[in-house]
Amino acid sequence: MDKKNSLILLVALMAIIGLAISGCKKEEGSLKFNHQLHVVDNEMECSDCHAAGKDGKMENPDMDKCSECHEIDMEHPSEDCLQCHSLKSSLNDYAVEEAVPEKPKGYSDLIFTHEAHEGIAECSDCHKGIDKQESLQDIEWPDMFTCKKCHNGDDAPIDCEVCHTKVRKEIAPPSHHGDWAEHHGFESRFDKSCQFCHEEKDFCQDCHQTKKPRDHIFNWKTTQHGQDATHDRRLCAVCHPASYCSDCHRSQKPVSHARADWMAYTRENGHAEAAHHNFRSCNVCHTRSDCDKCHQNVILRHK
Ligand code: HEC
Ligand code: HEC
Ligand code: HEC
Ligand code: HEC
Ligand code: HEC
Ligand code: HEC
Ligand code: HEC
Ligand code: HEC
Ligand code: HEC
Ligand code: HEC
Ligand code: HEC
Ligand code: HEC
Repeated sequence: MDKKNSLILLVALMAIIGLAISGCKKEEGSLKFNHQLHVVDNEMECSDCHAAGKDGKMENPDMDKCSECHEIDMEHPSEDCLQCHSLKSSLNDYAVEEAVPEKPKGYSDLIFTHEAHEGIAECSDCHKGIDKQESLQDIEWPDMFTCKKCHNGDDAPIDCEVCHTKVRKEIAPPSHHGDWAEHHGFESRFDKSCQFCHEEKDFCQDCHQTKKPRDHIFNWKTTQHGQDATHDRRLCAVCHPASYCSDCHRSQKPVSHARADWMAYTRENGHAEAAHHNFRSCNVCHTRSDCDKCHQNVILRHK
């Protein structure tokens, strides 16, 4: 029986056992495979199944390899075939899909050969954790941090042109067009590759010490920044060390403190009522010991 016929048989088989009951639709095969079970539990080497192929690529095993241990009777397809094959069906959401994840977009720019690393690196230096994975869909493709362990400029070169056809340190990527200066902050949280091009230690901080965000407008100091800081203080820490805040808070008073009856014990405008109302806001600038200078152990109605 030739390969094409076996495939037809296989698809027919899937239909029979019910993965594709509801009529005629487009189906696509995919393989199921458990690396942990073979590599760790059965002590197989990566090279038992993956041999060096053309152009520095590694090859994936064919079915003959599996036949060495698994009984595969191509003359009589049965449910046993489904141990390794699954079907992805456009209409059956429940169909299993355990395919290897696509390589990242940036890989189209990557220069890499396995040959160059023969005898230099173990498979696991770059393909971390595959030996302990139960499903192909858990595979993660190596990122640049993986390469940088050796490609640090000493043990192996870090020049961009060694591994990238187009990406260069001195060429700003497409993301930088338009109002990048305003929205790069958001992206920098997800994209850790900034540091590959912006290596100077103070590149980010130098600018953050001088360029204010758009929200620092005229009433920023008096009313607005407190609210924003309460909402999310981590944003402030991008540019301001904590001491920047506390130094100022030790010397500058809020407008409330200038009220004539601030020190009088009246319900509306006095500091006592303000403290009862929201001591947390006092806490931004005061510790209890500040208060204790004038009176010990005042009891606050609210925390
Ligand atoms: C018993 C055989 C076997 C062993 C041993 C084995 N693999 Fe695999 N590996 C496979 C199969 C089968 C696939 C899925 C190939 C496919 O989708 O056609 C696979 C997929 C992969 C892939 C993804 C390939 C691609 O083209 O998407 C990588 C990377 C990989 N293996 C690395 C390793 C490493 C590293 C080791 C050693 C820790 C290892 N494998 C050991 C059988 C094996
Ligand atoms: C120095 C890092 C590194 C080492 C060591 C390494 N790989 Fe890879 N491997 C990669 C990268 C990067 C890719 C993706 C290459 C690409 O898409 O151009 C890859 C791809 C693969 C693939 C998919 C087919 C291909 O070549 O694109 C398989 C299978 C694979 N590796 C298996 C192995 C096995 C088995 C070993 C050990 C014998 C090994 N690799 C050692 C980095 C490495
Ligand atoms: C050196 C022997 C050997 C080879 C070669 C081999 N396997 Fe296995 N495989 C095993 C053993 C042993 C088990 C465990 C059987 C069990 O627990 O019932 C197993 C189990 C499996 C399972 C069941 C996994 C599970 O989670 O239940 C799958 C799927 C599988 N192998 C796929 C493959 C594929 C695909 C290949 C070829 C690329 C392959 N095997 C090659 C020995 C091998
Ligand atoms: C132990 C795992 C395993 C079992 C069981 C298994 N296959 Fe495969 N099969 C593979 C692997 C690995 C490949 C090669 C990778 C690929 O093409 O996706 C493959 C490929 C194929 C192909 C594509 C052509 C080729 O030879 O590369 C067909 C058709 C096929 N299998 C049919 C079957 C049928 C029918 C059965 C049941 C009699 C079966 N397989 C059982 C692992 C298995
Ligand atoms: C040793 C190989 C190697 C060298 C040298 C190298 N890179 Fe990379 N780089 C990679 C790999 C692998 C990736 C991961 C591919 C991906 O995810 O896009 C990557 C990804 C990147 C990305 C992310 C691309 C994207 O689309 O997400 C940037 C940016 C980058 N590299 C910049 C650089 C710069 C700048 C240099 C030179 C200073 C450099 N790289 C040198 C291997 C390398
Ligand atoms: C375990 C260390 C190690 C790791 C990890 C590693 N490399 Fe390498 N790589 C080397 C060494 C050593 C050389 C040879 C340097 C030389 O010839 O000067 C090299 C050479 C290369 C070359 C140049 C080959 C040539 O033809 O000159 C490329 C491209 C390359 N590596 C890409 C990568 C990529 C991409 C990664 C990450 C996925 C990576 N390397 C991870 C050690 C490593
Ligand atoms: C040209 C000056 C400049 C450089 C260089 C710069 N930034 Fe910024 N950054 C700003 C400005 C201005 C803002 C405020 C944008 C706004 O909201 O108006 C900002 C905001 C941010 C924020 C978000 C804070 C928030 O409120 O969400 C982060 C995170 C950030 N930058 C990270 C970085 C990183 C990481 C680097 C270095 C790779 C960097 N920036 C380099 C000027 C710069
Ligand atoms: C491939 C290289 C590369 C990557 C990756 C990269 N940059 Fe840049 N970036 C540049 C270049 C080149 C410039 C222009 C430098 C100059 O003007 O001196 C620049 C400029 C900037 C500026 C200043 C913009 C202005 O208007 O002055 C900011 C801010 C910045 N980058 C932030 C980031 C952040 C944040 C990331 C990560 C999300 C990042 N960059 C990733 C190459 C890169
Ligand atoms: C992108 C960097 C950046 C971020 C993010 C940032 N600031 Fe600022 N901020 C500045 C710069 C630059 C100044 C002016 C510093 C100077 O004049 O010494 C400033 C000044 C201030 C001032 C003093 C205003 C005045 O009128 O004297 C306050 C208060 C302040 N920031 C609070 C905050 C708070 C609160 C947050 C978070 C919600 C925050 N900042 C986030 C860069 C930033
Ligand atoms: C230039 C001086 C100055 C700097 C720098 C400053 N603040 Fe303030 N902050 C004030 C003043 C003045 C008030 C009181 C505003 C008012 O109510 O009149 C205040 C109020 C606040 C409040 C509100 C307290 C309340 O009443 O609920 C918070 C929260 C706050 N600041 C957080 C921060 C953080 C976080 C930073 C550093 C990122 C910071 N501030 C930097 C002067 C400053
Ligand atoms: C933005 C910072 C800030 C906040 C918020 C703040 N204070 Fe103050 N407060 C000060 C500073 C600065 C002084 C003067 C300290 C000194 O002279 O040693 C002060 C002084 C005082 C005094 C002494 C009288 C005076 O005006 O000098 C009282 C009472 C007082 N605060 C109560 C409170 C209470 C109650 C709250 C909360 C409702 C509060 N403060 C919130 C900064 C703050
Ligand atoms: C400069 C001295 C001074 C400081 C500093 C001060 N207080 Fe007072 N506080 C007074 C005086 C005086 C009274 C009593 C007013 C009265 O009886 O008319 C008072 C009364 C109070 C009362 C009412 C007493 C009660 O039993 O209900 C509270 C609450 C209070 N203060 C909270 C605070 C808190 C909180 C702070 C620190 C953030 C603080 N005070 C700092 C002088 C001070």
